[in-house]
Amino acid sequence: MIVLGIESSCDETAAAVVQDGKVELSSVVMSQIKEHEIYGGVVPEIASRSHAENIGVVVSDALKKAGLSFDDLDAVAVTYTPGLIGALLVGVNFAKGIAFAKNKPLIPVHHLRGHIAANYITNKELKPPFLCLVVSGGHSHIVEVKDYTDMNIIGRTLDDAAGETFDKAARAMGIGYPGGVKLDKIAELGNALAFEFPKPKVKDQYNFSFSGLKTNVINKIHNIKQKSDDIPVNDLAASLRKTVVDYLCEKFFQAAENLGHNKLVIAGGVSANILLRRTLKEYCDKNNKQLFMPELRLCADNASMIAAQGYYEYIKGNTADLNLNAYATMPIDNPTF
Ligand code: KG4
Ligand code: ZN
Repeated sequence: MIVLGIESSCDETAAAVVQDGKVELSSVVMSQIKEHEIYGGVVPEIASRSHAENIGVVVSDALKKAGLSFDDLDAVAVTYTPGLIGALLVGVNFAKGIAFAKNKPLIPVHHLRGHIAANYITNKELKPPFLCLVVSGGHSHIVEVKDYTDMNIIGRTLDDAAGETFDKAARAMGIGYPGGVKLDKIAELGNALAFEFPKPKVKDQYNFSFSGLKTNVINKIHNIKQKSDDIPVNDLAASLRKTVVDYLCEKFFQAAENLGHNKLVIAGGVSANILLRRTLKEYCDKNNKQLFMPELRLCADNASMIAAQGYYEYIKGNTADLNLNAYATMPIDNPTF
């Protein structure tokens, strides 16, 4: 089955053609980094306009690279939630146009389910059930993936996400946008024990909280700035990264042990983090657990992951009609459309 995937939930306009949920025939990602860089973060209005300007060429390019036409497609899958509403609507309406004009099934895909499905492309042998740490710019979840479309949230952040914590700290440090990846790179050069950040405490065993940590690191940066021009960015980045990664892993490993999961998976933009990948690998090697991670290119937003998850949603009968809408938020375990 050949599925065209479309992704426009944030600052990447992407289209891809994927066969049977695993084999990429093409993947095109047009990043808007340059357009948002001067503002230090994503500007929703600029994102929507840029998606509208580029989606046509991105989709044609994906088809061309796959050597296919619209008529060769079996279905169109599109991210319809969660994300910036104006940005999502561009992708949803474009997908509806193709579905209507070419009489193809329309498959709504939850963006975070897509991130999880990126793993099926990189790790062709991976099958549910498994336990997944989903860490992106807006979400931090521990999810039990019982089946491709059957998920159970074990833990979630009660406020900010891990990615947002990195982005805001990077911005305060003046290392620019996109912050997470830049912070990760300089953290490799710093001393992770140079600064101490309090580990957030929440009542529930598997839930997270990042807002206190985010405020703490920003205050620390402002205090240093007031005293001197010289911010020890490498040490700050290394210390913050270690605190966040240790915190994520502690809960993820606890959940894996208590729930008896031997297959551990990560997904979302933050799954590209060098220390997170290293820590997971060490733990899994030592504890005889299988570890699956998307290749770096598929950690970030892309449309291959949407087409991959779209395949499994289609098999489950989750197709929409032309009334499909976009939603800024939606739970990953029980998405409706
Ligand atoms: O999944 P994603 O591309 O977009 C959302 O769905 O939100 O995730 C973006 C997030 C941003 O917060 C970005 O800073 C973070 O992923 N990120 C990283 C790294 N690469 C991207 N965070 C830490 N280390 C990285 N290497
Ligand atoms: Zn994402």
